[in-house]
Amino acid sequence: MYSKKVMDHFQHPRNVGEIDNASGVGTVGNAKCGDIMRMYLNIDDHGIIRDCKFKTFGCGAAVAASSMATELVKGKTIQEGLAVSNKTVMEALDGLPPVKIHCSLLAEEAIHAAIWDYAKKHHIKIEGLQKPKLDISEGTEKGK
Ligand code: FES
Repeated sequence: MYSKKVMDHFQHPRNVGEIDNASGVGTVGNAKCGDIMRMYLNIDDHGIIRDCKFKTFGCGAAVAASSMATELVKGKTIQEGLAVSNKTVMEALDGLPPVKIHCSLLAEEAIHAAIWDYAKKHHIKIEGLQKPKLDISEGTEKGK
């Protein structure tokens, strides 16, 4: 049911933890399943994401998606980080079962929320960045 990559990232999640004095922190949840994800980003003066850590109180797919998402955004520019979508995360994990697609959406929104927090703290506007949803089940059908 789950790919080897999903199992690997679930059993050995990368970048678990917190970053002290992070440049941006984003927390999002899904009220329908009750899962919560928090992402920490360290962004340098050149707008490069130097470090990314996460804490996820959620299902195995959410843990695997957060782990993969942190790997995907590390070393990227803010714009490249924003472009990491739930599809990117799912592809990198060799897919997720349909009922678990929303778990990867949590990772995408958590990254956006952390970048949003960074932009707010630095009083900057980031092109293409929209206010993240704190509850990803809002306005969605079937909680996907
Ligand atoms: Fe909700 Fe996975 S079941 S994030």
